Amino acid sequence: MKKVQVAIVGVGAIAESTHLHYLKGMDTVEVIGLVDTDLQRVEAVAEKHGIPNWFESIEALLENIAVEAVFICTPNATHIGIAKKAAEKGIHVFIEKPIGIDIDEVTEYSNLAKANNVLTMVGMTHRFRRDATILKSYLERGSLGNVYYAKAKLFRRRGTPKGWFTNKELAGGGALMDIGVHVLDLAWWLLGQPEVQSVSATSVSMLGNYQTKYTSAWESKNNKLNAQHVFDVDDFTAGWIRFRNGTVLNLEIAWAINGEEDDSISLEFYGNEGGAKLSPVTIFKEDNGIFTKIEPEFENNDVYQDEINHFIECVIRNEKPLIDADQGLEILKMLQALYTSSNQQKEIILD
Ligand SMILES: NC(=O)c1ccc[n+]([C@@H]2O[C@H](COP(=O)([O-])OP(=O)(O)OC[C@H]3O[C@@H](n4cnc5c(N)ncnc54)[C@H](O)[C@@H]3O)[C@@H](O)[C@H]2O)c1
Repeated sequence: MKKVQVAIVGVGAIAESTHLHYLKGMDTVEVIGLVDTDLQRVEAVAEKHGIPNWFESIEALLENIAVEAVFICTPNATHIGIAKKAAEKGIHVFIEKPIGIDIDEVTEYSNLAKANNVLTMVGMTHRFRRDATILKSYLERGSLGNVYYAKAKLFRRRGTPKGWFTNKELAGGGALMDIGVHVLDLAWWLLGQPEVQSVSATSVSMLGNYQTKYTSAWESKNNKLNAQHVFDVDDFTAGWIRFRNGTVLNLEIAWAINGEEDDSISLEFYGNEGGAKLSPVTIFKEDNGIFTKIEPEFENNDVYQDEINHFIECVIRNEKPLIDADQGLEILKMLQALYTSSNQQKEIILD
């Protein structure tokens, strides 16, 4: 069987521990190139994992080897510039989250990718969780009736990442852009991707560079970018999104907060015929006139493996991925509107 030949652009923390790790174990794929602006690191990672080609830029990769798809795992602000270069050559693109940080730039990329028949997938990992898939099946068959209110929350107690993640120019935002993107995407997808009417938010940096002892955080592998020590983004954002179908979503995100440690996404959905929450996935419904709790039993899956499998299958079959560029763009529009609402201290109405 012919293998899909791929390259990874940006071989930092997530790419080495996840993308490279899983791709290397797949029969359907061959990783033939790595790219990183940190030449020492890319060479070391390529040698460690037996990858035959490594380069300092996407341009150098495209000039020297032919690949069918690239995985973009670089700082958020660089995603789209790299994706455009690949799409111009008809190469399929997997982009880590968020798709980008600039709405016009992402729109332009999305049009280019479509014109060149390039498939795009955004790394919204949580959509591949078994419990989320089960919850989606209840929501899709209308088990909750009319869902009028939803809550989505992720509070880390001391989980602010280190490095470029706190620099707006490179990350596009803080907690909301980094982890809020997962929470918002999951809630929006489960709700059936309704159209947004308006958003309102408060977005602040209150704990900043705390010095709390005995805690650890996600750290970028790029020491040069890390040395900039910029912190000009939010570490807490709470928002309210009103959809055109009448549903309202309450979103709460923190990298760091003075409260209970809870480093997992919690979701609640309230409908006139039932309710649901995650996690654990639970459905609340009347059955036979009796209030009942349904707690589905299931085996967990390996979400990253399933996410990467899905993209590779889409490339092989030339099918649109579960999370394409347009959906990534819709999420980015909501994230930016939440920031705008906080900056302007008012509700933002979307067109
Ligand atoms: N889906 C998830 O669960 C998940 C988890 C962690 C990170 N991420 C995303 O993955 C991306 C990377 O995060 P990370 O934690 O691995 O960061 P990182 O800083 O450890 O790695 C980024 C790498 O990209 C390289 N780089 C920078 N600019 C480049 C360019 N123009 N071309 C090529 N290489 C370049 C850096 O040298 C670095 O090695 C981010 O977008 C982040 O949001 C996703």
